[in-house]
Amino acid sequence: MIDFHSHFLPDMDDGSDSIETSLAMLHESWRQGVRLMFATPHFYAEEDDPESFLARRSEAYARVREAIEARQDSEIPDILLGAEIYYFPGMSVAEELRALSMGTTPFLLIEPPMIPWGNSMLDEIELTGENLHCIPVIAHVDRYMRMLRDASLFDRLRDRRILIQVNASFFVHDSERALELLRQNRIHFIGSDCHNMDERAPNMGSAEEIIRLDGATEYFRTINQRIFSLLERQQQL
Ligand SMILES: [Fe+2]
Repeated sequence: MIDFHSHFLPDMDDGSDSIETSLAMLHESWRQGVRLMFATPHFYAEEDDPESFLARRSEAYARVREAIEARQDSEIPDILLGAEIYYFPGMSVAEELRALSMGTTPFLLIEPPMIPWGNSMLDEIELTGENLHCIPVIAHVDRYMRMLRDASLFDRLRDRRILIQVNASFFVHDSERALELLRQNRIHFIGSDCHNMDERAPNMGSAEEIIRLDGATEYFRTINQRIFSLLERQQQL
């Protein structure tokens, strides 16, 4: 399976704080059945610019690669580099954000602030997709639904050209609703959003188990397959 959202790169953000933790997170993900993991460190336009972010990200990734090679470790998922971009007004004209898309895919993972969503924000996110020729994906929509106590968020995204990522924990804490949305094909990506090996450890396996026990594996497989096929097609080009 694919973990679409994670913070295992060392010393990038509030995620992994050491190379040992990074490797432990990768190992644990592999053990749970993850075979492709997107690294999505936080990007805050107020504090950082894409160029220096990308340089830091390359450095962190090189450390991970080096450690994997030194240990001749094969039980590690494939890694693609991305970012979790914190929403900011004006992002729709910030062309340099294109470099922060998820691996070689056109997906751009965007994290809205934890305040009620205005239509102007959704308009801006939709416009970001158009202007930057990418496909916006909203990170952990389930978290906003829970913390803002707003069950309409999934519906509000339905008619827009914006895709939805949910966290694996959604299936653990609100399994009925998560499974229903999965079966309605309204969840486009699932990620662990793992930050460490403690309270925010890799947990794709628990989502997978809940989905399997409910007999909805086919829907989950479709999500993963869509991404694998896209990457395969790109490799052939
Ligand atoms: Fe995150």
